Amino acid sequence: MQKTFTALFLVTAVFVNVNAFEPFTEARKVLAEIVKLGKTTYSFFQESCDDSWIDFNSTGLQVDLEQKFFGQHIASKVLLKAITDFANNKTPKKPLVLSLHGLTGTGKSFVSQLLASNIYKKGMSSSFVHQFVATVHFPYSSEIDIYKTQLQQWIKGNVSSCARSMFIFDEIDKMPPGLIDSIKPFLDYYDNQDGVSYRRTIFIFLSHAGGERIKQVAFEFWENGKDREEIQLSDLEEKVPLEVFNNKYSGLWHTSLIDKYLIDFFIPFLPLEYRHVRLCALAEMAIRNMEPDEDIADKVAKDMMYSPQEERVFSSKGCKKIASKLVYYK
Ligand SMILES: Nc1ncnc2c1ncn2[C@@H]1O[C@H](COP(=O)(O)OP(=O)(O)OP(=O)(O)O)[C@@H](O)[C@H]1O
Ligand SMILES: *[C@@H]1O[C@H](CO)[C@@H](O)[C@H](O)[C@H]1NC(C)=O
Ligand SMILES: *[C@@H]1O[C@H](CO)[C@@H](O)[C@H](O)[C@H]1NC(C)=O
Ligand SMILES: [Mg+2]
Repeated sequence: MQKTFTALFLVTAVFVNVNAFEPFTEARKVLAEIVKLGKTTYSFFQESCDDSWIDFNSTGLQVDLEQKFFGQHIASKVLLKAITDFANNKTPKKPLVLSLHGLTGTGKSFVSQLLASNIYKKGMSSSFVHQFVATVHFPYSSEIDIYKTQLQQWIKGNVSSCARSMFIFDEIDKMPPGLIDSIKPFLDYYDNQDGVSYRRTIFIFLSHAGGERIKQVAFEFWENGKDREEIQLSDLEEKVPLEVFNNKYSGLWHTSLIDKYLIDFFIPFLPLEYRHVRLCALAEMAIRNMEPDEDIADKVAKDMMYSPQEERVFSSKGCKKIASKLVYYK
């Protein structure tokens, strides 16, 4: 559609100009104008690696985290600070490397979308945001050597065309052990490698590793009658990396990423409670332009499984599958 629009506009412009002035030189000038206008129109629609398409909105992220992201006071705080500091730093010494940990349905993929949409105008569909899902992109352990080469080429290729790229690695606990180590050189404190600098790039790792341990800590707080919001990063920080490191299936198993402190932030996601599932249901209704219905929200939340078996505090699937349940109760 945009092409037709431009073409029509240009044809009109040529006619007007050619009729009014001496044909040849004027026609050439008009031609130059057409090329210029064409370029402007093109860059208006076509995503490019500059501030018009990549511009971190700190307020936007803050508002999104406050209004759309439930029950994750630690993750909210750490993410906002990490991204804001990184975006404001004109000469970062290394790329930003975030590792998000938590059980299923607690919002790891969801918050990655919020981050992307407050950095890139096109959000997750930006051509500078690259998502790799272990079971989709790297399913066979036997192919690890091919994956390693491919992954390194992709990252290098993409960062050399846009330094402010974002790479999201989902399900790293399901990646063939050792694969993640192949991207280590990109995460380190180097000025540049083969003329490519990775210092403005963001890497995000998502995994379940450490999730059970986080849940244990959250449960201890609950058992002792303490407020969930009292849980501090320090209550989890020391324990999570250790567990991740020692868990053979974490995808980060004995990886030198952790040894060398190349991961800037470990970000724990707490298991969600009944009240958060209710909020997820209400949020989903708003997205679908439905009237907010507290009764349906209650029904949806009641329909989820909770653990531990007796106390039933944490939703076993977090806020996953809420959307499909809504349809059922409507
Ligand atoms: N903390 C949260 N706040 C608001 N919505 C949430 C939250 N957690 C989950 N949701 C909702 O539930 C859906 C599923 O969550 P999401 O895919 O982010 O989970 P996940 O942590 O990535 O799980 P998995 O580890 O299985 O990939 C999201 O699309 C979102 O709508
Ligand atoms: C940043 O986000 C805020 C809150 O969502 C919004 O009002 C504002 O228009 C955004 N700014 C830009 C430049 O997009
Ligand atoms: C960029 O990454 C994508 C995968 O997201 C890959 O298909 C593509 O080939 C990469 N581009 C370059 C130039 O390497
Ligand atoms: Mg996910």
